[in-house]
Amino acid sequence: MRLLVATQNPGKQQEIRSLLKTSGIELLFPNQIPTVANLDVAETGKTFAENAELKARAFAQESGIASIAEDTGLQVAVLGGEPGVASKRWLSGSDYDRNKALLDRLADNPHRAAKFVTVAYFYDPISAVGRSFTGEMSGEIAMKISNDTGFGYDSIFIPTEEKEVLAKLGLNKKNTISHRSIAFTQVVEYLQKINL
Ligand code: IMP
Repeated sequence: MRLLVATQNPGKQQEIRSLLKTSGIELLFPNQIPTVANLDVAETGKTFAENAELKARAFAQESGIASIAEDTGLQVAVLGGEPGVASKRWLSGSDYDRNKALLDRLADNPHRAAKFVTVAYFYDPISAVGRSFTGEMSGEIAMKISNDTGFGYDSIFIPTEEKEVLAKLGLNKKNTISHRSIAFTQVVEYLQKINL
């Protein structure tokens, strides 16, 4: 079983490596395959599913290897689901800048419910079989940014039933409850079933 993890994002790579550690699936990363080492796929889709599929198909077609891609976003209820599918692009700058801008927009609004959504898409270029998997995690936006390590919005998102932001809870805990782990548990079940 060989699977190309179709993302250039180091935070996602680390999480996916850890989520698939015991699956028996051999993982490859873009930097190991010259044809996709620098591949950057424009996220032109209108939904997480469209973007995940665009990325998986592009990496699979360029490498010839079955690929898994994912698209993730944070949806804040009181902002009508923003930043949503534009979670990375809605504000240029660093993760810190985006976290700060989101907190500024909410100010002291007590309605801070939010959720992370991940859609993972598997595409096999040989059989032309594609399949998508979804995971969600609910929670709320913190009042301030934590300076613990995490990536993206991990520094401002407190999962339901937790008291700390994801960045503070740490990767091991995150991987037992996260949107990404829920999606990838289904990915592993599926790949084992089709005997990739
Ligand atoms: P994309 O899926 O690479 O388009 O990511 C969209 C945005 O969501 C980026 O700003 C990421 O940093 C952020 N993001 C993706 N996954 C996570 C996560 O698990 N925790 C926090 N932020 C994330």
